[in-house]
Amino acid sequence: MTDRDRPGRDLDHVAIAVDDLERAIKRYTGLLGTEPERITTNSDFDVRVAIFRTGQVKIELLEGMGPESAVTRFIEKNGPGLHHLCFSVENLKGTLADLSRDGIEIIGGGDDIGAEGYPVAFIHPKGTGGVLIEFIEEPDHSAQGKENRS
Ligand code: CO
Repeated sequence: MTDRDRPGRDLDHVAIAVDDLERAIKRYTGLLGTEPERITTNSDFDVRVAIFRTGQVKIELLEGMGPESAVTRFIEKNGPGLHHLCFSVENLKGTLADLSRDGIEIIGGGDDIGAEGYPVAFIHPKGTGGVLIEFIEEPDHSAQGKENRS
């Protein structure tokens, strides 16, 4: 059974806000049984990111770069912990248009670029039971054809 046979959107990654990326990488390497696939910075969001691939999903450890970073502010408010869940979509702008028609608050218009170089947008946690949700449009999903929910 491939992912394509399952209904709904694929979970792409779970992101965890950490206050010390090097220490968290050591801990998660032990927990997940694998080294990070990539450690990178994302200037769109002022974060350093360690990306682990484990099973079907990725785990991203996020460390804020400077006081203006949303991750730094998240940790100030909540402490380290679960930051967001990310689901793959075939057509990001179309998905966002559908959601905002339904009154769901979108953060970003689909023009932000995530840590892996693909377009992303976030759904405000107040509309999702308190969990920040990210959508990502990856090229292998775009290649499957446009999403049509109308
Ligand atoms: Co993410």
